[in-house]
Amino acid sequence: MAITELLDMNQAWAKKVAEEQPELFSTLAKQQAPKYLWIGCSDSRVPANEIVGLLPGELFVHRNVANLVKHVDFNCQSVIQYAVDVLKVEHIIVCGHYGCGGIKVAMENTNAGISDYWLRSVKDIFLRHRNELQELDDEKACLSRMCEINVAEQVANLAHTKIVQTAWQKNQPLQIHGWIYGLHDGVIKDLNVSRQGLEDADDIYQVEI
Ligand code: CO
Repeated sequence: MAITELLDMNQAWAKKVAEEQPELFSTLAKQQAPKYLWIGCSDSRVPANEIVGLLPGELFVHRNVANLVKHVDFNCQSVIQYAVDVLKVEHIIVCGHYGCGGIKVAMENTNAGISDYWLRSVKDIFLRHRNELQELDDEKACLSRMCEINVAEQVANLAHTKIVQTAWQKNQPLQIHGWIYGLHDGVIKDLNVSRQGLEDADDIYQVEI
């Protein structure tokens, strides 16, 4: 497909949306008020808005390889801060997906170039859960479980951020959820690792405000 066809498709899309919801663009031009922050993988097969059926303006989104939340990643932290402090989102969703290439590479000894630096923390997670993972003799099952574990670990990282801790100390309603998406069927599974308050994180991560 030629690159100009994308612009043609955009014209068609904008026209269709304007016909179906005449107020949408004029409302969104004034402000955004999403209730959800989505932290997902960059994988092209996991488009955030589409898989949960949300329109422009309804989902604040951050995506990176393997949906990682790192405390020294000012890109991700800035997104979280804006979403929590300014937009006052009520839910943060970390959504991983089965068959994640980033997780797979991290579980191997492949030289993935620059990505090795990014994915190094996933190797650490693998090591911490090695006993459980080694009980799964099937390679695919092992990757699937590791994709789930990674989401749970990122939910924990999120709960430990200064931004989330501060919001909870101020009794700001904020829930964090861990989900995983199936590339094969398009279905999202809730991993039941949600957190919603200070009691869901160890004291050591709490900050004074
Ligand atoms: Co991925």
